[in-house]
Amino acid sequence: MSSPAVAYARENHPRFLNELKDLLRIPSISTLPENKADCRRAAEFLLAELTHIGFEHAKLLETEGNPLVYADWLHADGKPIALFYGHYDVQPTDPEDEWLSPPFEPTERDGNLYGRGTCDDKGQVWAQIKALESLMAANGKLPINVRVLLEGEEEVGGEGIEAFVASKPPELKSDFALVSDTELFAPGLPTLCVGLRGMIYTELEVRGAKTDLHSGMYGGAAPNPFVAIAQIVAKLKDEDGHILIPGFYDGIIPPSPEELAAWSSLPFDEEHYRLTEVGSRTLVGEAGYSVLQRTWARPTLDVHGIPGGFIGAGAKTVIPAKATAKVSMRLVPGMTPAKTFALYKDYVEKIAPAGVDIEVRLIHSGDPCLVRVDNPYIQAATTALREVWGQETVFIRSGGSIPIVGDFDRNLGIPSVMMGFGLPDDNIHAPNEKFHLKNFELGIESIVRFLEEAGK
Ligand code: BES
Ligand code: MN
Ligand code: MN
Repeated sequence: MSSPAVAYARENHPRFLNELKDLLRIPSISTLPENKADCRRAAEFLLAELTHIGFEHAKLLETEGNPLVYADWLHADGKPIALFYGHYDVQPTDPEDEWLSPPFEPTERDGNLYGRGTCDDKGQVWAQIKALESLMAANGKLPINVRVLLEGEEEVGGEGIEAFVASKPPELKSDFALVSDTELFAPGLPTLCVGLRGMIYTELEVRGAKTDLHSGMYGGAAPNPFVAIAQIVAKLKDEDGHILIPGFYDGIIPPSPEELAAWSSLPFDEEHYRLTEVGSRTLVGEAGYSVLQRTWARPTLDVHGIPGGFIGAGAKTVIPAKATAKVSMRLVPGMTPAKTFALYKDYVEKIAPAGVDIEVRLIHSGDPCLVRVDNPYIQAATTALREVWGQETVFIRSGGSIPIVGDFDRNLGIPSVMMGFGLPDDNIHAPNEKFHLKNFELGIESIVRFLEEAGK
């Protein structure tokens, strides 16, 4: 391989890394209203960089929430158009005191860069942009046409980008999408992700008495919303992890025998996963399905938090008037957010105990997706990855969700190449998120080589 762009990327790596750190210092947490201005600052930072590397039509596209960032370079006549996608928003940082270095002070330690957004997804967005810079700087042009579309609300459901993509704007006319927001199956193992779970994120509000009450005076007579939530939650899943909502599993499309066979030959050690990634006494879940099947191809239900009531230090004897439970479900092919939400809502309304009023709300949702692999871009990607990583690519699914990927297929009619460079232990959404520096470097080279292959 003698690619001037790869040589440029290697020479400029220290600068690339310093620039990424500047982006990471912006606390663009999309779910917190107080960080709204920071999200816009991150968008402007990316916009300026895209202009700086020679992209055109660079603009912020306003949505009801955080802006989208768009830019293009369309001078490779007769060559395909790639749509680069990533997100600049990040997750909150709690629990704060578990971070070994502050979340928004990117810090290098033992071959990794630590900080919120290093892996999910600013580090990967920066790898995309630095690959484009390397190609432009080394050759004065790109081997194919590229549009860049970055969003700032992926972590909260991505409604703004969804509406934009659904309007099928001419700016998005492309042949395929390059999505850099996933991970390698194992360190050093080049990976393409070909399926994501969908999700519905809901809130269950339970109200009992008209106001908070003294638990001695009224305990025994007044309904307790927290107990009601516990009773409802206990009826959502049985001990084997089977979800009890009637009709929940109807219509699920299982993976093909070939896909299952491929998964069983992946280098996966369940005990190692339990100990090093999960760190619990045992794993849980549906009997008869492997861990990879359970996390990639089976739906699930989780409770994220039950805010409300007394959570201060010490004791307060109160029967709270109200409690809320944040509950999400991950969906697999054959399931839709609308149908699943309706089934969940009906069931919860039916099983709610006497004495409380409940309200079931949908916060956001996204469809599951499987991407098409019968296209020349997947081919070009595996060729590039083989060269950069020295190994054959594995095809995996992921249990996570990136709501817009399904819409690229449904609304724009294009396949996605999900080429991401995170690692399973990168602690995304958790304290001490990191990005392996070698993966940042090889990620840039992979994208450079991928575009060169796609332009052949
Ligand atoms: N990048 C992740 C999704 C992901 C994680 C893909 C690991 C592959 C491997 C993305 O940023 C994410 O966290 N998505 C949210 C989406 C949701 C809020 C709609 C998720 O999966 O919880
Ligand atoms: Mn992400
Ligand atoms: Mn995420």
